[in-house]
Amino acid sequence: MDKMIKNATLSFNGKTIDLPIMQPTVGPEVIDIRKLYGQGDVFTYDPGFTSTAACDSAITYIDGDKGELLYRGYPIEQLAEKSHFLEVCYLLLYGELPDEGQMKDFEARVTNHTMVHEQMHYFFRGFRRDSHPMATMVGVVGAMSAFYHDSTDINDPWQREVAAIRMIAKLPTIAAMAYKYSLGQPFVYPKNSLDYPSNFLHMCFAVPCEDYVVDPILSKAMDRIMMLHADHEQNASTSTVRLAGSSGANPFACVAAGIACLWGPAHGGANQACLEMLREIGTVENIPDAIRRAKDKSDPFRLMGFGHRVYKNFDPRAKVMKESADEVLDLLGIHNNETLKVAKELERIALEDEYFVEKKLYPNVDFYSGIILEAMGFPTSMFTPIFAVSRTVGWISQWKEMIGDPTQKIGRPRQLYIGQTRRDYTDLAKR
Ligand code: SDX
Repeated sequence: MDKMIKNATLSFNGKTIDLPIMQPTVGPEVIDIRKLYGQGDVFTYDPGFTSTAACDSAITYIDGDKGELLYRGYPIEQLAEKSHFLEVCYLLLYGELPDEGQMKDFEARVTNHTMVHEQMHYFFRGFRRDSHPMATMVGVVGAMSAFYHDSTDINDPWQREVAAIRMIAKLPTIAAMAYKYSLGQPFVYPKNSLDYPSNFLHMCFAVPCEDYVVDPILSKAMDRIMMLHADHEQNASTSTVRLAGSSGANPFACVAAGIACLWGPAHGGANQACLEMLREIGTVENIPDAIRRAKDKSDPFRLMGFGHRVYKNFDPRAKVMKESADEVLDLLGIHNNETLKVAKELERIALEDEYFVEKKLYPNVDFYSGIILEAMGFPTSMFTPIFAVSRTVGWISQWKEMIGDPTQKIGRPRQLYIGQTRRDYTDLAKR
């Protein structure tokens, strides 16, 4: 595609530099500044990457003003209603929706890789039982590179493919193992007769003493949650995976880095923090005080599950999640859920408050997901691990796209140096 049809002209320090403007298929144009330092001897400055495109990608498109999210061009609302998570995995990985044969083959490949090497069970023994499951997942996923040597050569397309399938297949098993370990319950092996979300629920909730039949309502809800979290352009954890991968690190180590980044409460850790915040607020009578604190700059309290770097209208995932919350709680016979009542009232009040309206703060994907997951029986500590299970396909798709690009280079940002200029060492006696 002809990406450079016009230039931006930058004039400073007596210099004038023409910078090509690259064309997207949709969304903002991009000014190519790659030659700026060489020709102008200056860096650009954008610490939070608020105005920086770090790569080009064909996987996910977000329009923050329209509240639009497309996976390979397909709107998330249509996929959430008509597709299923493994089909979305295929779409994100390969760029097109599969035909029946392709779907069958992909599902079989994933299903037949869901077990982990038996020795990996011993890794868990080194953790305290009260370890956060994200801590165990960072460790165990990173350790996958110690087992699966036949899929760590990033220059071999076939090994990249095998690593992708292994990660999509094994992350649910590892997350379920982390959960079981925290409970002191035995690990439950995957069952090939179950579909992807049902298998995950079975590994989390089954015990050896009795049969566990997966409730199709919960399986459908889990499948939808996984689809909504699958990918999201160049968010912090995806950028972490890309940066780690740019050095040539193996894909398991890169995904472990992504899990570590996702854990933060400003990112994937927000779903746990949001539900704990809703519990702390407790009743609708306490909402005004929460709103007041969220607006008080001297108070570190923020409305978790609110706000987004990109969405300045609404997060389309939050809308689907809110509908699902109503549906799942109703189907489970959970009425008058106080947390859901607080969440809906908090959303209503916040969206009428000029602070939130002026700063364009709306519920994001994390605002309602915790309510569904709690209703399904998960503790808050499992919310972010479930986000990580879902996002693995996004991370690995973005990693594959980057590694497969022959022009790919190691990521190495520069800085605005504000420290000491050169000075000589002072002997101790003279300090
Ligand atoms: C995810 O990037 C992605 O795509 C992420 C994600 C994905 O799928 O990968 O969508 C998943 O991480 C969703 C976000 C989950 N995080 C939270 O819910 C935590 C609460 N939200 C905030 O911490 C914040 O909104 C961020 C981190 C999400 C976005 O931060 P930005 O873009 O850096 O915005 P900012 O912090 O500069 O805030 C702008 C203003 C500030 O006020 P001023 O300094 O301009 O006066 O809005 C205020 C902030 O103080 N603000 C909030 C707020 N979020 C922002 N005030 C109260 N409560 C909040 N939640």
